[in-house]
Amino acid sequence: MTLLITGGAGYIGSHTVLEFLSTGQDVLVLDNLSNSSQESLARVAALTGRTPAFVQGDVRDRALLDQLFSRHAISSVVHFAGLKAVGESVRKPLQYYDNNVTGTLVLCQAMAAAGVYHLVFSSSATVYGDPADMPITESCPTGRPTNPYGQSKLMVEQVLQDLAAADPRWSIALLRYFNPVGAHASGRIGEDPHGIPNNLLPYISQVAVGRLPQVSVFGNDYPTPDGTGVRDYIHVVDLALGHLAALNYLQQHTGLQTWNLGTGTGYSVLDMIHAFEAACGHPIPYAVAPRRPGDIAACWADPGKAARDLGWRAQRNLAQMMADAWRWQSGNPDGYAGG
Ligand code: NAD
Ligand code: UD1
Repeated sequence: MTLLITGGAGYIGSHTVLEFLSTGQDVLVLDNLSNSSQESLARVAALTGRTPAFVQGDVRDRALLDQLFSRHAISSVVHFAGLKAVGESVRKPLQYYDNNVTGTLVLCQAMAAAGVYHLVFSSSATVYGDPADMPITESCPTGRPTNPYGQSKLMVEQVLQDLAAADPRWSIALLRYFNPVGAHASGRIGEDPHGIPNNLLPYISQVAVGRLPQVSVFGNDYPTPDGTGVRDYIHVVDLALGHLAALNYLQQHTGLQTWNLGTGTGYSVLDMIHAFEAACGHPIPYAVAPRRPGDIAACWADPGKAARDLGWRAQRNLAQMMADAWRWQSGNPDGYAGG
């Protein structure tokens, strides 16, 4: 049987494709390459010795999906395809709702028509908004995301909850990712953001490699130990392995389940800069700047439910996240464009 992975050429998708291929699973990737390059999959094939089937196309294209479901023996879907830049989502809300919400609706319609009911969905800790208590468990109330990106994730979660409630044939996992960072230990695949990065780790890496002059630390007056924002950074390979565990669970249970995928430990922006300095062996220039609008002070997961239900726990520590991020960045200073 084949696993359909939408958005499988992207950052988290390519690492997840690699882990599934390594278990012997057949994989079909559907990606429109709007934020990725097929080079990531070529490298996954070189690393695993197995080539995933690839179709360049859009998850909103119902006719294409119907064709894929009829031509391949697809039993389950891992759905990464979507847009993820918070600032861009404020400027282009229709694009975000269309890609993220319509894309998921069309996918679920095509799945139901084909009799495929196992779905793993990429959600985000952003659905918790500004949580009152830490660590965050899955039963914490969802908040009010302050941007269309976060809103689109919450809307899809609600759609999938209604779908699972209406039809007991569905088995759905909502995976709420905390902050994915790092790269495969080979240094051959990693995060390759287009333009100036929005997220902290790719920004630090590009400063480290000399592509950007310095890191702006967005605020040092938060109520945290050193005043800078605290997040739960998780190694992308641990995150990828969480998808294998979730899919395994879905094969034995119906209904919808929600799991936090984080480590349970929070690190500040300054912790991250200093840990990266240790990995790359030279200082990272930084300067304190005003807070970024919409940011919260601190956010970290209680990953206990995933450990209990799935037997999954993040294994890789901060030093490994940084060493792997640096191996990728220093070996591929221009990302996949460097060839
Ligand atoms: P990414 O941009 O690297 O990967 C997304 C992939 O989907 C890209 O390859 C892109 O080309 C493809 N894509 C986008 N729209 C598509 C469409 N309409 N049809 C087909 N393909 C399409 O992002 P990522 O970091 O790998 O994120 C994967 C998923 O995880 C996204 O849904 C994202 O919202 C979610 N997520 C990411 C983070 C994070 O920090 N990276 C955190 C929480 C949730
Ligand atoms: C961001 C998104 C969130 C998304 C998550 C994972 C915002 C407001 N939120 O979360 O919706 O789910 O990414 O993709 O964009 N920082 C700096 N300097 C920088 C960049 C970041 O100091 O140049 C700080 C931030 O203030 C924050 C921390 O680093 O305290 C992490 O930032 P980032 O990597 O953007 O992730 P989140 O803000 O957690």
